[in-house]
Amino acid sequence: MTDPRLDGKKLILGVTGSIAAYKAAELVRLLVRAGAEVQPMMTADATRFIAPLTLGTLAKRQVLIQVFPENQDGSWTKHVDLGLWADGLVIAPATANTLAKLANGFCDSMLTATVLSARCAVLVCPAMDHDMWTHPATKANVDRLRSFGYTILDPERGELASGLIGVGRLPEPETIAAFIGEWLESRTQVNRSLEGKKVLVTAGPTREAIDPVRFLSNGSTGTMGFALADAAARRGADVVLLAGPVDLPTPAGVDREDVVSADDLHRAALNHADADLVIAAAAVADYAPATAGEQKMKKADEDLVLQLRRTPDVLAALGERKQNGQVLVGFALETRNGEANARGKLERKNLDWIVLNHANEAGAGFGTGTNRVVLLGADGSRHELPMMDKAAVAARLLDLITAQETAKE
Ligand code: CTP
Repeated sequence: MTDPRLDGKKLILGVTGSIAAYKAAELVRLLVRAGAEVQPMMTADATRFIAPLTLGTLAKRQVLIQVFPENQDGSWTKHVDLGLWADGLVIAPATANTLAKLANGFCDSMLTATVLSARCAVLVCPAMDHDMWTHPATKANVDRLRSFGYTILDPERGELASGLIGVGRLPEPETIAAFIGEWLESRTQVNRSLEGKKVLVTAGPTREAIDPVRFLSNGSTGTMGFALADAAARRGADVVLLAGPVDLPTPAGVDREDVVSADDLHRAALNHADADLVIAAAAVADYAPATAGEQKMKKADEDLVLQLRRTPDVLAALGERKQNGQVLVGFALETRNGEANARGKLERKNLDWIVLNHANEAGAGFGTGTNRVVLLGADGSRHELPMMDKAAVAARLLDLITAQETAKE
């Protein structure tokens, strides 16, 4: 059965020397069945786990391994040609060794040389032993790859080839194939569905001053909100981004206003209450110190009790004055009873949508590059998205929200 997101797409599938290489055969089959053209590439070590003939037969293409193959035509620039040919380059499984090579720009195989010359989007699906995955060297390499704009599909937790239980398993081929569809669509689509619309996004944490040098805050890094602002701007919207204290660059074409406290955010948001779409991704402090001293507090021998006051609920305030046709989207970060709590917030704050993420799930919520969310609609709809990088989550959320709203018009 073809998949419109993959049909006619050109993919390079790189396979490296992990026991999980056997899953690549099924992945090639799924991608080809979905309509994609797949060019397999293997590292020499990968051929010890699975025969090139297997992948080549399933892909109906010659598997490429060496940069300097004993080819007849004498050309050696195939890696450059293929890097231009592909819509996407996927490496599954990617070993710790390959991550290290890519992070440092090595090009000692057909695959690594192609990655270095590729202009298309790159998706890396690591697989390895738990301790290798959690080693600071691997973490640094993965961060480096993310900084190049590569997407990382984090490995899953489960039984590993070593017999140990931990994080490091390559996700099942069906999961990877579904992820590739979402990822490719979010990377290649030209979509101006928000042209002429004003979109207000709140992002990041707030800081509530205790005194001039201390504050109450939370671990939000603003990544999800910034990804949403970026995705909305790419679709042609006039985006106002109200950002708490975060360390992120402003996405292109976005009008950013920095705020510090919940009170600041409240004031700024009410100035933009005319937005067509409001996405409240900020992790706003629910309480602030009742009085912030002008001078630095001095310690005393006794314990300290801080008196806290409730901060204004920015999103609820916008919900109270919701205009006709305006769409309000909130976020809920829950540790338990997620869906029931999120639906409660949706109703209380007069929202159209709420995005639920689970605070205690690895790879989701604060401070990660990825997220796994469920979008709940006021109309009772429910869309569960797979674990994806936050840019892909943002694109998918906007797709779902705008599709529904267009259907209503
Ligand atoms: N929100 C807001 N202003 C606040 C608090 C929250 O705009 N003062 C928004 C957030 O941006 C998010 C949603 O409301 O979109 C979160 O709802 P909330 O009920 O505040 O979540 P929690 O603070 O996690 O609530 P609880 O402690 O009840 O779980």
